[in-house]
Amino acid sequence: MGQPTHARNTDWWRSAVIYQVYVRSFADGDGDGVGDLAGVRARLPYLAELGVDALWFNPWYLSPMKDGGYDVADYRAVDPAFGTLAEAEKLIAEARELGIRTIVDVVPNHVSDQHAWFRAALAAGPGSPERELFHFRPGRGAQGQLPPNDWPSQFVGSTGPVWTRLPDGDWYLHLFTPEQPDLNWAHPAVRREHEDILRFWFDRGVAGVRIDSAALLAKDPDLPDLGEGRDLAGGRDPHPFVDREELHGIYRSWRAVADEYDGVFVGEVWLPDPERFARYLRPDELHTAFNFSFLACPWDAASLRTSIDTTLAEHAPVGAPATWVLCNHDVTRTVTRYGREDTGFDFATKAFGTPTDLALGTRRARAAALLSLALPGAVYVYQGEELGLPEVDIPLDRIQDPMYLRSGGTAPGRDGCRVPLPWAAGEPYAGFGSHEEPWLPQPADWPSYAVDRQQTDPDSMLHLYREAIRLRPRFGDGPLTWLPASEGVLSFTRANGADGAVCVVNLATAPAELPAHTRLLLASGPLDHRGRLPQDTAVWLRV
Ligand code: GLC
Repeated sequence: MGQPTHARNTDWWRSAVIYQVYVRSFADGDGDGVGDLAGVRARLPYLAELGVDALWFNPWYLSPMKDGGYDVADYRAVDPAFGTLAEAEKLIAEARELGIRTIVDVVPNHVSDQHAWFRAALAAGPGSPERELFHFRPGRGAQGQLPPNDWPSQFVGSTGPVWTRLPDGDWYLHLFTPEQPDLNWAHPAVRREHEDILRFWFDRGVAGVRIDSAALLAKDPDLPDLGEGRDLAGGRDPHPFVDREELHGIYRSWRAVADEYDGVFVGEVWLPDPERFARYLRPDELHTAFNFSFLACPWDAASLRTSIDTTLAEHAPVGAPATWVLCNHDVTRTVTRYGREDTGFDFATKAFGTPTDLALGTRRARAAALLSLALPGAVYVYQGEELGLPEVDIPLDRIQDPMYLRSGGTAPGRDGCRVPLPWAAGEPYAGFGSHEEPWLPQPADWPSYAVDRQQTDPDSMLHLYREAIRLRPRFGDGPLTWLPASEGVLSFTRANGADGAVCVVNLATAPAELPAHTRLLLASGPLDHRGRLPQDTAVWLRV
């Protein structure tokens, strides 16, 4: 309030609602079974009505799609399955006209094995300068038949090694699939190229960049063994490939590029140590990073409160806003997770056939939506979260995710949260837009979640998200203050003065009395007959 427009504009990301678009599964504009940019352009009014400030697009670049586009063959081209570069430019401009900014996803740790650099490196042979852009090494053992070190795959549950041997004897490093060779970030050409890629997209009007696997780029040049018992979390001792000091220099120069455009970064930084995490958010580094500790947090009042407090405390010294994330394209859908016995998220424990109570999970997810949208900072909403979509059991022969394929069939992988969206209940493929079966099959009950059904239903998840996004500014921009509440109840305000809103979430079995208020702004579910807040329900109150 009262701020000059300019200040408001450059600070938009501090409190934005950012909607994640997994293009392949959002909307199919040309009917071929795969979502595309035409589909997104046609649905921009839906996103504007939802009220989001920005869209984060998962990679839309030219890719053989061995890992859903996280295997990039050309960062300056759009994959023909999605559209063209000209169309991406139109989409960015059209969204902006509706007041919606665009964030693209850059994948600096690795490229596709079809990328021109890697093809040149293969052709040039051992010892060539082309191979210096990657991590090529001779093997160990008398014949070089053993991989150069003992690093484990970054796809949890994956049985495959992180080294692949070529017919010429050299091995190359890939923390993910063999089709995703890791770049050598000690090489100046790699740094130059990525700064150029950032400019390429900022020049096309994008407002921000999500940085994939942001804590993995830098490697110990000796590529030493990890050794027994060493975890993958990074930490205070230099780790051979997680959270290395060199990364901060890389991101400082990225920041200088972004600053020329008022561009912003959001890093995919999975680090359990809050202090190490916050180092990426120092004023001359990344603007924001995803809050995975909140995402993974179980549905439990004490754990959530600790997660919120830790988050705010770790961000405060560096002056960065927190982000609040309940799910994304890699993790179990919220309504499914919250309906399980174990309501936390962990790749390592993800298993086929885990039972869930979807009605319970949905009730909790509705409350969680009001909780996260009331907290100070930016909120990410993953497509379909606003529809309350559950995780889907994909028939085994239709799973495409390498996490499943490389686990020897034990890890379910991530396709269950990537099912094409239902737009219209009465249309083929729930209105996704395809003339033929979409790339991932939709379950039989998908039409019941369709946008057109939810649009007219005041009790729908879509309605709740729309109202919450519309009313969210009522909380003001003050810091969070916890209010007294009984055990199992979270109650807080962000009011600076007398006027403001209070969020109350009841996770206890007993119904909770509401604090004094002048108006009920929004509720995730009905109050009981005595006006009390039932278990797994949240309200926003005006006080
Ligand atoms: C990130 C992405 C994930 C991808 C991986 C490798 O974790 O979110 O989808 O598989 O990086 O690029």
